[in-house]
Amino acid sequence: MTELAINGGPKVRTQPFPPRNLVGEEDRAALNALIDDALATGKVINYNGPAEKKYEQDFAEWMGGGYADGVNSGTNALFCAIGALNIDALSEIIVPPITDPGGCMPVLFAGCVPVVADSDPRSFNASAEGIASRITERTRAIIVAHIAGEAADMDPIMELAAKHNLYVIEDCSQCHGALYKGRKVGSIGHIAAFSTMSGKHHCTGGQGGVVYTTNENLHIEGKRFADRGKTFQPNPPYNVRAGLNCNLDDIGATIGSCQIKKLPGMLERRWHNGEMLKQALLKNPAVKVGWQVPDSKCIYWFFRLTIDTNVLKCDKKTFCDALGAEGILVQADYANIPCKGQWFIDQRVFGNSGYPWQCPAYKGDRHPVYDMHNAEEAIAKNFIIYENERYTDDDMKDIIDAINKVTEYYLK
Ligand SMILES: Cc1ncc(COP(=O)(O)O)c(C=O)c1O
Repeated sequence: MTELAINGGPKVRTQPFPPRNLVGEEDRAALNALIDDALATGKVINYNGPAEKKYEQDFAEWMGGGYADGVNSGTNALFCAIGALNIDALSEIIVPPITDPGGCMPVLFAGCVPVVADSDPRSFNASAEGIASRITERTRAIIVAHIAGEAADMDPIMELAAKHNLYVIEDCSQCHGALYKGRKVGSIGHIAAFSTMSGKHHCTGGQGGVVYTTNENLHIEGKRFADRGKTFQPNPPYNVRAGLNCNLDDIGATIGSCQIKKLPGMLERRWHNGEMLKQALLKNPAVKVGWQVPDSKCIYWFFRLTIDTNVLKCDKKTFCDALGAEGILVQADYANIPCKGQWFIDQRVFGNSGYPWQCPAYKGDRHPVYDMHNAEEAIAKNFIIYENERYTDDDMKDIIDAINKVTEYYLK
């Protein structure tokens, strides 16, 4: 048995993994054309201009129809998706068990109260059961995040939402293009939010986001909310509700249009890599690619790997430390449960007021403590490995060899 790198043995992976190379010559050519046009005509680079309209059309076409509004971050895409629903302040919105803070915080700035659902024990995503126990007479919407490129089990969630007359917002920030029963995620709920910052499957530059829906009214309301409540009409009233300025601009949109052309190829590669890992680990007694909803196609934003420490002589942290020493980009805990964040526990949103929970008009639980045992178990039993669409079969082979090497060493 080869000595582990953490104990001074040779590393499986000696070279750095490939960078994403997301920006290509086509992005440069398109940006040059935008600047050339500005120079030739004297026009400013705008927002809501032709490049943004084109990107929104490209995005909607890629989704198979519907309406897209480019905004300036995934956090604000979620904020505007909530804004599109026009729900009353102090309504409760159910938020995902495990998500980026940007997948929860917009609820508060929309004047609503986040209520955290528990996950399916087999994944990082919410389940209908985990959501059902959180519904009260104050609930108006459910945010479902598709974490790690894996589709959540949407049919039971949509049934539950229909039964209680609730909106469903899909947060597809980590999931551009996964399929659930043949449908693209983002087209199943009432409205969806995508982050298009530079780490996501496709991007609009350093930051960006998209609000997507097949409902024209929700699209108009979301767009209005993203641009100070504008009517977009030539005559007064020009502004019919309050909103912020969450607009994308023509530079980001120009990049977005280039990226979305490359997206199908990038997704296929990520899928190929994930499936290669899945197949290879079928023979590994301790580590497997995490369970996925049947009849879904995962597009692997990162690899979520489930570890069975019962068959090992070490705990998960020791295993991940050893894997990291082999040169693999590993993170032991994806510990992003919103209600475990110190800001949430301290209710630090609007100064020291404790609002919205402490607002006298709010009739729900002012100091909620949620049973998150499934999400905690999912975090404990899983670790993640970073990857991107530039990883070749040889890169994947190194990841597989390193996992097998560390497993063999620690196997009971
Ligand atoms: C699930 C989820 N929602 C929302 C966000 C926020 O997106 P952004 O960073 O573009 O604001 C992220 C960011 O990673 C995310 O992963």
